[in-house]
Amino acid sequence: MDLEGKDVISMRDFDKETILHVLNKAREIESCPDPALLMGKIMAALFYEPSTRTRLSFEAAIKRLGGGVIGFSDPDTSSTAKGESLADSIRIVEGYADVIVLRHPLEGASRLAADVAIIPVINAGDGANQHPTQTFLDLYTIQKEKGRLEDLRIGFLGDLKYGRTVHSLATALKHFAVELCFISPPLLRMPEYVLHELDEAKISYREETSLEDAVRHLDILYCTRIQKERFGSAIDHEKVRGVYRVSKQTLVSAHEELRIMHPLPRVDELDPGVDESKHALYFEQARNGIPVRQALLAMIMGKI
Ligand code: NCD
Repeated sequence: MDLEGKDVISMRDFDKETILHVLNKAREIESCPDPALLMGKIMAALFYEPSTRTRLSFEAAIKRLGGGVIGFSDPDTSSTAKGESLADSIRIVEGYADVIVLRHPLEGASRLAADVAIIPVINAGDGANQHPTQTFLDLYTIQKEKGRLEDLRIGFLGDLKYGRTVHSLATALKHFAVELCFISPPLLRMPEYVLHELDEAKISYREETSLEDAVRHLDILYCTRIQKERFGSAIDHEKVRGVYRVSKQTLVSAHEELRIMHPLPRVDELDPGVDESKHALYFEQARNGIPVRQALLAMIMGKI
């Protein structure tokens, strides 16, 4: 699939062949980046929700290829504060940029923006729905570390209800022969619509509540933060706050080759004591955001 001029909204829009193609392009770009590849191209980064890694790695990605950035990271400093609709903002910004990267608290906001915009839109996270560029970098990280995307036992831990990174990643992994294990409190189970997709793709998965029981069988443990800002009530959040904490202690029964991933930021679910262990893969995972986002930007702009 040629991505020139295309939007990146949901992992559901990508087949296996296209996913692998993007990962190959990221590998090529990482080994041999061309500092003038996106010369003269402008990326608009519209962030209606907080971000560190996603926004900064998108910005670094395009700047290292010769492109420029406009945008905002605080909607209160944009015309949104005056009551401008998202659709209007998009129609204005598309006149100033070649691609729009959008993060928004509402599910479906990126799809709406893509319907309105003539230029490509990249979803940098829409509420609890999807975060496709995070998924591409997660897959890139797994492939680089394990040498494959098939024949892996992957555990997802934490907030599987509101975490968009786990929704996107599970959707993408249905193309690969993996075994999935969803570890969460009952309140934060993986949504039925994601489980249904996996059933249709005949991916085997199980649901667990105990991390200690699950961890010994895993090749990858993908941890997530409890998404406090997406809870309907403070009481519900209180019920699950601090429910899991991955530490050297909880990893004693883990396989030597277990690798821990986390989209970050972490709060209290991943002990910094794990950082120096052979299991920690999350800082490298964050660094992989650069080549993966460079590949996606360059493909969308028809440069590779
Ligand atoms: C994630 C997000 O924004 O969904 N962060 C990220 O992009 N690396 C995860 C989170 O906020 O917990």
